[in-house]
Amino acid sequence: MTTLPERPRYLFIRILEACNAGCFMCDFAHSRDTYRFTNEDLSELVPKALEEGVRYLRFTGGEPLMHREILPMVRTAAEAGLQVSLITNGMLLPRMADALAEAGLSLVVVSIDGMDAKSHDLFRDARNCFDRAVEGLKLAKSLGIMCRVNSVVGPHNYREMPELQEFLADLGVDQWDLSALKLSQMPTYPDEDDVRRVGERIYAHERLRPMGKRWYGETAEEQHRYFAQGVTPRVSQDRCFAAEDVVYLDAKDGSAFVCACLPHRTDGGSNSARFRTGGVVDLGTPRLREMQQHFAAHGPASCTGCNAASARYSDVVAAGSDVPAWAY
Ligand SMILES: C[S@@+](CC[C@H](N)C(=O)[O-])C[C@H]1O[C@@H](n2cnc3c(N)ncnc32)[C@H](O)[C@@H]1O
Repeated sequence: MTTLPERPRYLFIRILEACNAGCFMCDFAHSRDTYRFTNEDLSELVPKALEEGVRYLRFTGGEPLMHREILPMVRTAAEAGLQVSLITNGMLLPRMADALAEAGLSLVVVSIDGMDAKSHDLFRDARNCFDRAVEGLKLAKSLGIMCRVNSVVGPHNYREMPELQEFLADLGVDQWDLSALKLSQMPTYPDEDDVRRVGERIYAHERLRPMGKRWYGETAEEQHRYFAQGVTPRVSQDRCFAAEDVVYLDAKDGSAFVCACLPHRTDGGSNSARFRTGGVVDLGTPRLREMQQHFAAHGPASCTGCNAASARYSDVVAAGSDVPAWAY
């Protein structure tokens, strides 16, 4: 058996559900939920996360920039030595970029799904979302924060992606995560060959190649599974290294998952562990380790599809190559 080098782990925390956008595909659209994971909760969690080998942290939601304590939370994690990122729709980024940089944010991931304000704002049901996201990215870049754009792609917008790609490359975006839209109802494309043609162009781009596997699959088998069954490309090996390296916390109900896709599966709950029991936080519970081992070994066979970046992440680890910073 090959011994793999110890790798830094990634921790995702959904710190709230409330959101100021109404994305058509999202469970949290326009949510007014009042739950907040607090800076105090985070201060308790960070030492446990470090003990478990976590080096990268991502705040997600809901909309993390709506959280009143987001700045102290970035600072708490950064001061403890974690590389800190957050994923945002960017609406509040122009007014917060300065303070986020000062608090120690390393990477900002901004969600952009359309090539211009007209289409993006419609998908997100949020006025000025595109313009603010772009302004926020420019500011973040000028402040030395690494910038990634996350685009969710499907039949509704894949034809816009080449134009968006040029735009993002001109903007100087560092990474582009192009991931398939997931819905309980399978997305259908009127012309699969047209998707392949558009995809060829996107994945041959020299300045800003998407970070993961092709959203519609790399091999003929993957593409068939995607177009016929809606299963997005998954890891190519029979072992999922993302499951070993990632912990996703749904802070509101205290559950932990070994992959960011699992909470969204209909059987999600049965695939979770507790990370907070009776007020005590622990990321090294036997149940969580059991989940990690289970999904690392059996995930690839039962997986209903990865996001594109995590499928590639696991393949890079499996190949024994160096895993670049912020590969996930
Ligand atoms: C749930 S949002 C939370 C963070 C923030 N509000 C944002 O918009 O980036 C995180 C990411 O999930 C993506 N997302 C939401 N619903 C999705 C779906 N049905 N399929 C794939 N990605 C989805 C969003 O586009 C966004 O990039």
